[in-house]
Amino acid sequence: MSAACSHSRILPSRQVRSSTAPTSSIPTHTLPVVAASAPIKSLDELAKINDKSLIQSQAYVDGRWVSASSGKTFDVTDPGTMQKIGSVADMDADDVRRAIDAASRAFESWKNTTAKERSLILRRWFDLIISNKDDLARLMTLEGGNHWPKLVYGASFIEWFGEEAKRAYGDVVPSPLSSTRMVVLKQPVGVVGIITPYNFPNAMITRKVGAALAAGCTVVVRPAHETPYSALALCELAERAGVPRGVFNVVPCSAENTPDVGKELTTNEAIRKVSFTGSTAVGKMLTAQAAGTMKRVSMELGGNAPFIVFADADLDVAAEQLVACKFRNSGQTCVCANRIYVHESVYDDFVSRFAVLVEKRLRIGHGVSEGVNFGPLITERGLQKIEDQLKRAVDAGARVFLGGKRPDISAAGYFFEPTILVDVTDEVPMSCEETFGPLCPVFKFSSEEEVIRRANSVPVGLAGYFFSRDIGRVFRVAEALEVGMVGANTGIISTEVAPFGGVKESGFGREGSRYGIDEYMNIKYINISL
Ligand code: SIN
Repeated sequence: MSAACSHSRILPSRQVRSSTAPTSSIPTHTLPVVAASAPIKSLDELAKINDKSLIQSQAYVDGRWVSASSGKTFDVTDPGTMQKIGSVADMDADDVRRAIDAASRAFESWKNTTAKERSLILRRWFDLIISNKDDLARLMTLEGGNHWPKLVYGASFIEWFGEEAKRAYGDVVPSPLSSTRMVVLKQPVGVVGIITPYNFPNAMITRKVGAALAAGCTVVVRPAHETPYSALALCELAERAGVPRGVFNVVPCSAENTPDVGKELTTNEAIRKVSFTGSTAVGKMLTAQAAGTMKRVSMELGGNAPFIVFADADLDVAAEQLVACKFRNSGQTCVCANRIYVHESVYDDFVSRFAVLVEKRLRIGHGVSEGVNFGPLITERGLQKIEDQLKRAVDAGARVFLGGKRPDISAAGYFFEPTILVDVTDEVPMSCEETFGPLCPVFKFSSEEEVIRRANSVPVGLAGYFFSRDIGRVFRVAEALEVGMVGANTGIISTEVAPFGGVKESGFGREGSRYGIDEYMNIKYINISL
């Protein structure tokens, strides 16, 4: 048994064996994906941004653009060309302390604004993001390899929480005594430290900052070092929308400064809440650091989503949804399908339909090119991880059905073909590791009970998907999956109106939806004696 897949040890051996049966009847495909791009010069593409004030390379602290006190900067690279697009202020822990001080001062007045005032400011911010969406999407593409409509998704959280600000109701509790009255208030928790990843350079910020500002909190945000420009452009628009100085601070930093900056944000006494999206390993470390001062914590961590196709599923719908779910953002989302389980009676049929759709729907290339919807991974490291997982899968007996290599296209970025693996066993690392890339391993199963056990056999539980036309099964499986979010007969679940978050080692807290604002509010109970 592979050490990487220790979870398989909890499965009865009969079920492990059933997944290992080779699928010899499906012919292996060679890759079909079209290269859509001509050579691209990243700086020329950057120059096409109309409003140049959206391209900021300093940090935004206390309503001002500031350099790092050390004077240091770090480089940002276009993952679609590997060309440098600029250098950004490299803030350190001392700089971050100054940002936290600014946020603490601003909190004293922001917490006393009315919900309606905050709502109007957030609405103006949303409108400005939408009216600048082409420039912002181009900027995001150049730093993050955008290849899916992420910009509008990000904006939707500002709109949503602007509306929710006015609905953060408290309660009046019926008192057990005729001589007292009991009231429950919701109050902003205070200054929030926010740490976000590269994969959604604006949405992972707006999902947290929208809720925090709506609640009356102020924030200090450390964006991913790969994608600081989108965060800084949001500052420019926030200022225009009337967000007061010190309420929204952004402190970019290099990979080298990230541990110190993370430590400051999780240990500084003035920070009362930490919200993080990223890996489970880093989430555990940040949670431990935050425990020293008993901060409230929201952790949106890694996933390893099962995607189950039962024999009674509509196979065309399931295949279409798998393309959307698995290859959204080139596989770089924590809710991506990671382990595809297909009933043995429809396995060959499903894989063939899925491969045809992958060829038909996806176009690899640089995100600025017309028609491209499948961009690069973020770094060479991301690519190498995929190649390593693929090699270990093939070593364990899996077979490449589609894709499987860096594509031969004119763009020089970190591209990897959408890849389908068949004959995959529970021995391969992907059965228990998050992939975060375009590898799609397809396992076989024989019964509902077996597949639920295998789906739940990992320590994380963020999203899970399944396809079935049996209404009884839909409820049974949705309830049995140990995850925070379920897609039944759909592969796309993300929206600002629904609660996003996981269980087990995928973390805790919910983002978006009417629940999201509660993460940034304390409950206070007042007992009034008449
Ligand atoms: C993530 O990958 O962390 C977020 C994905 C989403 O919001 O859909």
